[in-house]
Amino acid sequence: MEVKQHTDHIELEETLLKRIGQIADRDAVRAFVVGGYVRDLLLGRHVTDIDIVVVGDGVAFARKVAEVFGRANLVVYETFGTAMLTLNEAKVEFVGARKESYSKESRKPAVATGTLEDDLSRRDFTVNAIAASLNADTYGHVEDPFDGQGDMRKRMLRTPLEPTATFDDDPLRIMRAMRFAAQLEFEVDPAVLGAAREMANRLSIVSQERVSEEFLKTLKSRKPSIGLQLMFDTGVLRVVFPEVAQMAGVDQRKDHHHKDVFRHTLQVLDKVCQATDNVWLRLAALLHDVAKPRTKAFVEGTGWTFHGHEEVGARMIKPMFKRMRLPMEHVNYVEKIVRLHLRPMALVDEGVSDSAVRRLLYEAGEDIDDLMRLCRADITSKNVRLVEQVRKNYEYVASRMEEIEKKDKIRNWQPPLRGEEIMEICGLPQSPMVGILKDKVTDAILDGLIPNEHDAAKAFLLSIKDEVIKGPAIKRPRRSDLGVLDDPTS
Ligand code: CTP
Repeated sequence: MEVKQHTDHIELEETLLKRIGQIADRDAVRAFVVGGYVRDLLLGRHVTDIDIVVVGDGVAFARKVAEVFGRANLVVYETFGTAMLTLNEAKVEFVGARKESYSKESRKPAVATGTLEDDLSRRDFTVNAIAASLNADTYGHVEDPFDGQGDMRKRMLRTPLEPTATFDDDPLRIMRAMRFAAQLEFEVDPAVLGAAREMANRLSIVSQERVSEEFLKTLKSRKPSIGLQLMFDTGVLRVVFPEVAQMAGVDQRKDHHHKDVFRHTLQVLDKVCQATDNVWLRLAALLHDVAKPRTKAFVEGTGWTFHGHEEVGARMIKPMFKRMRLPMEHVNYVEKIVRLHLRPMALVDEGVSDSAVRRLLYEAGEDIDDLMRLCRADITSKNVRLVEQVRKNYEYVASRMEEIEKKDKIRNWQPPLRGEEIMEICGLPQSPMVGILKDKVTDAILDGLIPNEHDAAKAFLLSIKDEVIKGPAIKRPRRSDLGVLDDPTS
């Protein structure tokens, strides 16, 4: 990321900004583009949303702009004193310069209007407190009262005011510090980190949606470990994601100690980020070992074990999604990746039989490639020979998968007997027994006992149904429910 030399003037090419400036001139108000747009322009980063601050009434000005552009899509947030317009696919947010940006807790703006410098002083970081004029007489002139450009050159996040005052205005900024550190790959000023540590608990009063949004933005950066490590060091992680914070630390018993799971996880996460932009796979990488702290046991003669952590971890995913108000449509995917993360390696131990490969392909379905991406990233040993061996094993598993997928087309496969047909054949009402019978038929096909054909499946069902229906109605346990998988990466 290129940091330009200090400048008093920036080229604002966007015609949209020129037109907003003309409206400001006609209306006799001073208008500026501010915040992320200016920051990213100066850093040579891709610019997206536009924030406009006017000295005066921001909402009234937004109404004028909406009128000129003939757009009815103005959204006014009266409580926050802001207004949003979508113009040429860009989101443009308007606000009047204020003396205090947000009141405590409620994030309601104080009514007091202020000067541009008042407004900039109440923003989160100096690099976000740079404005560029939009009025014709000073178009592109830069206002940078807190030397945000100097901090850009030092690659440093600093607050315009005392950090505790800045965080007091809006504690979410504690998270934003970690997020920007990861996104921009900047250092965080020690005083800012000190305030973050002191005030970390205040994050518990911020709305969960805002906290999670910053958390996901951190995960989307090139190297999320930068932000997560800072969150851990300042105690922020303990407040916003205690399950992840609990992975830190090493237990020593006699000569045995295990890897620090948090450290290992950060390495895996950064590695997976080189292979994918999918934030849900990144989250799965962050959480793949999340149950290690609660499954850990010391076994005499063996050392530390984490039996069943993949299944216990998978079951922790939904409650975490709910609490963090993450979009539930991704919960099954993350759960599945966590549940299956040891399976490709377990295949090697089992001898990579056709039926075991088919079973994994069936369970992972379309997500098998993502699962393999995580597995490859999960090799973090310093032992070069071991790493090479594990890498080769995965390559072998992947080639066997490809071979079997070509032959049997399991990834999108649906067992040939549907639930309704099973009910009809066996004269059963809708009940768990239907699922049990369907599992038996599926198992028989995946194990290669019967061909993957409708008639063979039906004949098999007829041959087993009486015995199964008579037997105790216990659901077939998943292999991983048994906690039998050893983690080759620990
Ligand atoms: N801002 C702030 N405190 C906050 C949120 C925002 O001071 N809690 C100010 C900052 O000046 C910020 C601007 O409002 O630059 C716009 O906020 P936002 O759109 O959330 O962030 P950006 O800086 O634009 O960055 P990004 O688009 O990456 O979120």
